[in-house]
Amino acid sequence: MLTSDWWRGAAIYQVYVRSFADGDGDGTGDLAGVRARLPYLAELGVDALWFNPWYPSPMADGGYDVADYRAVDPAFGTLAEAEKLISEARTLGIGTIVDIVPNHVSDQHPWFRAALAAGPGSPERELFHFRPGRGENGELPPNEWPSQFAGATWTRVEDGEWYLHLFTPEQPDLNWNHPAVRQEHEDVLRFWFERGAAGVRIDSAALLAKDPALPDFVEGRDPHPYIDRDELHGIYRSWRAVADSYGGVLIGEIWLPDTERFARYLRPDELHTAFNFAFLACPWDAPRLRAAIDGTLAAHAPVGAPATWVLANHDVTRTVTRYGRADTGFDFATKAHGIPTDLALGTRRARAAALLTLALPGSVYLYQGEELGLPEVEDIPADRLEDPMYFRSGGTDPGRDGCRVPLPWSGTAPPYGFGGADTWLPQPDGWAGLTAEAQAADQDSMLGLYRTALRVRRTEAGLGDGPLRWLDAPDGVLAFTRDGGFGCVLNTSPGPVALPQHRQILLASGPLGEGLLPQDTAVWVRLDE
Ligand code: NOJ
Repeated sequence: MLTSDWWRGAAIYQVYVRSFADGDGDGTGDLAGVRARLPYLAELGVDALWFNPWYPSPMADGGYDVADYRAVDPAFGTLAEAEKLISEARTLGIGTIVDIVPNHVSDQHPWFRAALAAGPGSPERELFHFRPGRGENGELPPNEWPSQFAGATWTRVEDGEWYLHLFTPEQPDLNWNHPAVRQEHEDVLRFWFERGAAGVRIDSAALLAKDPALPDFVEGRDPHPYIDRDELHGIYRSWRAVADSYGGVLIGEIWLPDTERFARYLRPDELHTAFNFAFLACPWDAPRLRAAIDGTLAAHAPVGAPATWVLANHDVTRTVTRYGRADTGFDFATKAHGIPTDLALGTRRARAAALLTLALPGSVYLYQGEELGLPEVEDIPADRLEDPMYFRSGGTDPGRDGCRVPLPWSGTAPPYGFGGADTWLPQPDGWAGLTAEAQAADQDSMLGLYRTALRVRRTEAGLGDGPLRWLDAPDGVLAFTRDGGFGCVLNTSPGPVALPQHRQILLASGPLGEGLLPQDTAVWVRLDE
């Protein structure tokens, strides 16, 4: 059962549908695959599923180029099937979060096709940012805005006008100064809440509003012409009114370094929560982890919103790979493949990080495959890559395909029980030991650890939302308590440290010494009174 404030302390599992499970054997994941695996998700013990976009899409950006916000891509299934999935999950006590992409549409969306056909000066073009070019013959783009992906932010159409796209040319940006754009998205929210969605994840939530004058970008000048503009708050207040009328939850994808600006989106009449990318980007370093945790909690406190904790998603290098490197933080600017990686070390740290994040106050996100300890796949042949980040960077950025490879469910060779043999991205050899089947019976596997941790998290009254108190700890060690005598200790220091006085070990991320917590290990304990 989802209570009204379930989202304050939920464990949310991210389903990248295309790669989760393939029900019809065509090599692409689909809703039938998800429905068949609902028992797995229930056994894992998550409260909600967040689905990456499942709408009809030409897949120029993995579905973040939406052609119809009220339907399901035929490759994934049908709307009726999505409704069934939402209600079946609900029966298991699992809520559904859909992904709404309001900043841009697909260039195949009827609005954009109509805008192209209608020509310059038409009302259809006003739904987007069409402008004449600069230069003598309009041959230069209207401004020099930096792209969110490498490459240009403007594309010229046949009649000579240019249109804005912060991402790929197949993702034209909507004009959020237009009332029809606002109206349409509120209707789309209603559409999914009426179909039983418990929440909505808002893609690129801080990018929607643009300075209507579209001035050139000048480093350091405030306000930014398209990031974190004040107009956004009015938009999200109206969304909140819609969400509240259904008891639905709004979750923002907001990458902002300024925590005070970030928290403004979480005021009581705006979004419920937002992803915490400061924590995701943090290197494996105790003082910096502690600073990220304290910074997060301090930013959320004044607005009364719960924090979220994220170690991975479909955009970043998989956790065990990241933590197995010398530079364990995450930065899009330094994303690369072929860096020396110690996967055993990365896995040990990822296990410890799982216990750390699951013990922190607020809700936590788990990206499919994280519970299996999957590494980033770094050797996908170039002719199989799909991510526009790779292509638009001319191959200097490896792109995000490596964290989107179809999941291994069973067996000893590709497609590892995923479904059809011809998986849309190739799976590597060597995943036999990482399948859900191989790990299910083993308490000590990553899957075993997540299952136990999520079970304990559900039964421990002090976990999820609520206070955290730090304990004194040696250098490189993080130790804190939660209500009910619950303690969590993480040791990142080079040697073992003494465990705090405790009555019981609830769970450890790896083997413990006699009264000792080894390096890169975390433990949950019941503390002495
Ligand atoms: C953020 C999404 O997570 C990412 O996958 C996508 O490429 C961009 N937004 C653009 O929609």
